[in-house]
This record gives sequence, structure tokens and C-alpha cells, in this order.
Amino acid sequence: MFAQIAEHRPYGGVVPEIAARSHLDHLDSLIARALAEAELDFDDIDGVATTAGPGLIGGVFVGVMTGKAIAAARRLPFLAINHLEGHALTVRLTGEVEFPYLLLLVSGGHCQLVMVEGIGRYRRLGTTIDDAVGECFDKAAKMLGLDYPGGPALERAAQGGDPARFDLPRPMLGRDTLDFSFSGLKTAVRHRIVDIGADKLTADPQIERDLAASFQAAVADVLADRCARALGVFQARCGRPGPLVVAGGVAANQTLRARLSDVATQHGTELIAPPPALCTDNAAMIAWAGVERLRLGLRDPLDFAPRPRWPLDEISA
Ligand code: KG4
Ligand code: ZN
Repeated sequence: MFAQIAEHRPYGGVVPEIAARSHLDHLDSLIARALAEAELDFDDIDGVATTAGPGLIGGVFVGVMTGKAIAAARRLPFLAINHLEGHALTVRLTGEVEFPYLLLLVSGGHCQLVMVEGIGRYRRLGTTIDDAVGECFDKAAKMLGLDYPGGPALERAAQGGDPARFDLPRPMLGRDTLDFSFSGLKTAVRHRIVDIGADKLTADPQIERDLAASFQAAVADVLADRCARALGVFQARCGRPGPLVVAGGVAANQTLRARLSDVATQHGTELIAPPPALCTDNAAMIAWAGVERLRLGLRDPLDFAPRPRWPLDEISA
């Protein structure tokens, strides 16, 4: 594994040009290392799966060109994978999970509830009307002066914090919709920090812990409320209660996993979550989506164009 985090840290977020350049610099040697560690060479490979979108297009382009080059040179099938499909199918890599299932996809760019009916068959039930939940974690962490990336830093900061100390809003809680909103929560955190004052915040680490814990509790309440509602919809459509699957970077959060697990139990089903290391972006989930597609005989043409925007429900199989 190679992480670009240190290259982006001075800027407090991902810089597209740095990401694309870093992909170019490291991809070839990473592929060689991955093959060496797996004790495989190109002759052992059945197909090449590459993330083809959605996202920052520079890095995606470098990956797609590399994948196509390997596929063309080795005469292997090429699979253009939607990044979100990788998240959606990860639980089938780590366990035996049958279709259909209800998916809560929570990452830096997305917050969606999706019915996963099969490979390439995704029905979106709800989405965020403003910020993604991971983005909200990252912004809250930045306001608290925490390290980048913000989600894991905020989770650490919340340890030993009192989640009831700060009364933060739960946007859209209890409303008859499956959509989400997080911008109000983000703004409320900013106002709290201004009210407390930067000096007091730095002088008393307990305030930071309590604010981080209160923020996490608000996010967990909102997500739990939406999932409860969506499980009702799922039951009505599919005739069984679940399961509920959570995926994407924010799914690594233990407070969230515990809350969602309770919601699932209350609805007579279970929560299935990938191990935390496979919640945040990783190549294994893309390879796995490739395996699933290859098994169905699917493949993509070598002129497949990378897609900066590519909603999950516009994938086909
Ligand atoms: O899926 P992912 O790795 O990349 C995208 O597709 O966006 O998700 C990254 C997001 C970031 O916003 C990051 O702060 C958040 O997931 N994240 C977490 C945790 N680990 C990663 N948020 C809360 N708690 C965590 N432990
Ligand atoms: Zn992701």
C-alpha cells in the first residue's frame, strides 16, 4: 500500500493535481509490488479491473490508462468499475451475503441509501441534499484543529467525550423522507466553536472531546433514523427485514457501527459491515467488483471513457 496522505496534509484536503501526479509516480511500482507480495505474475491474472469513476478525474485517468495498457498487452478482459459499486459489493468479498440487501453508503463524497438487487442493479432510495457525511466529518475535524484526514481523527478525539454535553441539530430527523442533510450540523459546530472561543478550546481538551463526541452522536442519530425508515421500505418491497449493510470510509466509525447494529436488531435483522480497513478506499474492493462482473461474463471495451460523474443507479450489467 502507498498512501498520498502526507502529500496532501499541508493543504488540509486532497489537491487534484498532486493526486494525479502521485498516481503517475507510484502506480507502476505499486502494481509490481502487489504482484510480488501475492507471489503472482501477469500470467496468473484473469482480468484487469480499474476504477473508472466517479471522482477526481486526473487520478482516475492514470489508473484507467494503466489498466487498459495491461489488458491490451496481455490480451486480458478489461473491467471499468464504478468506485461506488466497489463499496457496495465489499461485504460479498468478506462474507456470504445474498442479494437483495439495503446499503447505507457513507463516504467522503456520498451519503446514500441503496437497494442492492444484484450486480449492476442498484436502486437509490435516498441521498444527501447538501454535504456528504464524510465531508462533514472532515470539516468538523478541521474546525476543531484536528489532523487530516478528519474522520478518524475526530473519532479518536471523541474518545472519553460526553456526547450529551453539546446539543447539536439532527437535520431532517423524523421526517418522512429517505434523504439526508448535513450542512446545518456543520454550521452549528462552527457556531459552537465561535461561542466557546479558540483560546478556551485549546486550553481545555475536554471541551474538544465533548464536542467531537456530541457531533458523532448527532450524525449517528440521523443515520440511524434514516436506516430505520429505509428498513421499513425494504421489508415492504422485498418481504424480508434486511440485512442492512454499511460501506464507505465513514463505515469504519465504531460509534456509527454500534448504533446501526442496534437499529438492525430492532428491525429483526443484522448489520453487516466490512472490516474497517476495507471500508476506506482500497484496491481489493475494486478487484472484487471485477471478479463479480467477470463471473457474469461482463467486460468493458478498451475505449471506455473515465467518468467524473457516474451515479450508482446508472450502472448496467
Ligand atoms: O470511501 P472513502 O475512503 O473515500 C471516498 O470515497 O470518499 O471515505 C473517506 C471518508 C473521509 O471523509 C474520512 O474522513 C471518512 O471517510 N472516514 C471516517 C472514518 N474513517 C474514514 N469518518 C468517521 N470515522 C472514521 N473512523
Ligand atoms: Zn470511497
